[in-house]
Amino acid sequence: MPFPVERPRRLRRTPALRRLVAETRLHPAGLVLPLFVREGLSDPAPITSLPGVVQHSRESLRAAAAEAAYLGLGGVMLFAVPEVRDAEGSAATDPDGILNAAVADVRAEVGDGLVVMADLCLDEFTDHGHCGVLDEHGHVDNDATLERYAAMGIALAEAGADVVGTSGMMDGQVGAVRRALDGAGHDQTVVLAYAAKYASALYGPFREAVDSQLQGDRRTYQQDSANRRESLREVRLDVEEGADLVMVKPAGLYLDVLREVADSVDVPVAAYQVSGEYAMVEAAAERGWIDRDRAIVESLLSIHRAGADIVLTYWAAEAARWIAEGRA
Ligand code: PBG
Repeated sequence: MPFPVERPRRLRRTPALRRLVAETRLHPAGLVLPLFVREGLSDPAPITSLPGVVQHSRESLRAAAAEAAYLGLGGVMLFAVPEVRDAEGSAATDPDGILNAAVADVRAEVGDGLVVMADLCLDEFTDHGHCGVLDEHGHVDNDATLERYAAMGIALAEAGADVVGTSGMMDGQVGAVRRALDGAGHDQTVVLAYAAKYASALYGPFREAVDSQLQGDRRTYQQDSANRRESLREVRLDVEEGADLVMVKPAGLYLDVLREVADSVDVPVAAYQVSGEYAMVEAAAERGWIDRDRAIVESLLSIHRAGADIVLTYWAAEAARWIAEGRA
């Protein structure tokens, strides 16, 4: 017997061989670009903690969505920053509110050529920054929040959203939104359930991006990072309630959860590579401590390899360009 018997290195010898046997491939259609729009802006405004990402004006948002369509991205996920906030997050359900207006703008820009997704949560719209409305003790009131989510789901569908992303982590939110959509004649609106969403330190830069008013934290509704089994429960409930797509968030630190979720469901699985994941790579790269482009590709491949069909990432447009150029 010759020794070694097996030579796995044979398949690694040239870039062409490695490309041939790659088990996971990046494709623009699997990437979704989160976009921020801020009411009252006339020019895009940089976000310090997310270098390269901006708060868009309504006009620049349309251009960004058109570019996303041109690049063949899977979709865009819209978040909005209103000028005025209140306890109920009224702007979220106002048909002229900034998020609904932005959804309509983007829909008009891209038609059916790009999947238009919108965040369905109150945190950008409430003056206390929580994802729901508060009871008289200042606690997030689950069931009162469901009514707000139901109304917001209808408003987003009417504005033209293909997909609503229920990200608030209230119990029963997927069922409440699904019922409301169906009751209003929007049975084709897709619900993307942020099924397993952890209370993560990695949302820090996002909170600057949306000018979050939050004091305290979201630990009474978002999950404890110590838990794995709990995610399977959340995912099971969301699928039972009618989720069309389920998501794990954050992505990179939760690849074990992602793999288990992907193995447990028969709906497409998404993962959100969140703001802190982006910021850590950008900050290390800026100091010359890490090869930025390789780190980005590795992170996206790993999230796909762990089981995500769809990845939400602030690098979506850039990565799509690299893919087109054969660099990723
Ligand atoms: C809530 C929401 C958050 C993010 C997406 N949707 C913030 C939070 O839960 O505090 C974070 C995304 C990111 O960090 O990139 N509407």
